[in-house]
Amino acid sequence: MQITVIGTGFVGVVTAAVFASYDNKVIGLDIDEKKISKLKKNLVPFYEPGLEKLLKQQQKSGNLEFTTAYQKGIENSDLVILAVGTPSNPEGGADLTYLLSATKELAPYLKSEAIVAVKSTVPPGTLPKVDKIISQTANVKYYLAAMPEFLKEGSAVEDTIHPDRVVIGARENVVFDRLRELHRPLKCQVIEVSPESAQMAKYAANAYLATRITFINQIADLCEKNGADVEEVIAAISHDRRIGKHYWYPGVGYGGSCFPKDVKELAYYSRQVGEGENLFNKISDLNEERIPRLMKNFGDQLGGWSGKTVAVLGLAFKPHTDDMREAPSLKVIPYLLDQQAKVRGYDPKALSAAKQIFPSDENLSFHDSIDDACQSVDVVLALIEWPEIVDYDYSHVIDQKKEQWLIDARNQLLASQVKGWGFNYIGIGRGEIDEQ
Ligand code: UDX
Repeated sequence: MQITVIGTGFVGVVTAAVFASYDNKVIGLDIDEKKISKLKKNLVPFYEPGLEKLLKQQQKSGNLEFTTAYQKGIENSDLVILAVGTPSNPEGGADLTYLLSATKELAPYLKSEAIVAVKSTVPPGTLPKVDKIISQTANVKYYLAAMPEFLKEGSAVEDTIHPDRVVIGARENVVFDRLRELHRPLKCQVIEVSPESAQMAKYAANAYLATRITFINQIADLCEKNGADVEEVIAAISHDRRIGKHYWYPGVGYGGSCFPKDVKELAYYSRQVGEGENLFNKISDLNEERIPRLMKNFGDQLGGWSGKTVAVLGLAFKPHTDDMREAPSLKVIPYLLDQQAKVRGYDPKALSAAKQIFPSDENLSFHDSIDDACQSVDVVLALIEWPEIVDYDYSHVIDQKKEQWLIDARNQLLASQVKGWGFNYIGIGRGEIDEQ
């Protein structure tokens, strides 16, 4: 199939490269000339395991190319995938500016019988807007589809090749037939629904996962009050197969480019349709308030942050990415500086991104290794569960001459080991801990 992916951000590049690897002819189209010229040289502007290699292979094979020219990009395409950004507007709704302007650009060049599939996360009711724009210009028969994306950063290539499911929202059988055929090599379940259901499925999936995280965080907070250990609670409830133990670790709240934005969008959408009192506004607020609340709580446990030197380990929003969108470090580091603490930051991949984001401050430094970041600190704050941070032997950085704390903000380290190294241990929702 001849495919064009408009928008060469995270989702667009991964989608283009993976479809090219299944022997489709794919064009990645973007109006950003700099981005396109980098991609042509196989330079990916972000870190994502396996992507650069795939990009190289597919450009070399001739299955994948990049362009900034709409006519060249669209005129031969059987399928045009819209994967442009839909950032939140100030009220929290999805800003469709890029999506609708890309639609306007592509419309004059559409090939007869082409499918235009919206992969960007958009609320139900968006396809009629796309349709209205295309119908004003295109003189050919075309089809529309909603094809939401469920990949996770850090495993995006793997998730695209082996998705849990693919969701296709359309009205015509011919669209289902062609898109089902496109996804056949992925050997996964293809769910065929209406465009509105497909779009709601995307919001529902992310809002459910964000709710699940918020729920266990709230249980952890209650455990703090009564001496229960949230990890024991999780172990106990996870035997119920309806609950399970997956995707269930408490921490400092959810971040990243999707959950915060999508939950806010769903909350905004709820308000728009007269359901503003529902769960989603509350979930978003609870997540927003979480880091300042926890930081105060940690500070109280260690006798105040002022004058303390703190190693903040993990600056990206999660492991295996250098993406800092809605990363906990963006709230944690300013909080610590504001409390007159000194911060020594480290991340396996996001150091250069962090250096660009944080204004220079005499109390903030970045370091190339955990060992270096933890030199002479009072507190080690393990913020993100990079394997390197979880598996590190912190006995190397213990200083017998002073009292030190290790805060495990994801409950991934063994509390008994941390205590054995000589730290005061602080976890999330861990009351009486008696590990063997
Ligand atoms: C998410 C969805 O998983 C994906 O399906 C969707 O397409 C985009 O949004 P992503 O943002 O890449 O993907 O990361 P994910 O691994 O799901 O984590 C999201 C956030 O939740 C991170 O901040 C993570 O630290 C946090 N999280 C996750 C928890 O706090 N606890 C958990 O148990 C799991």
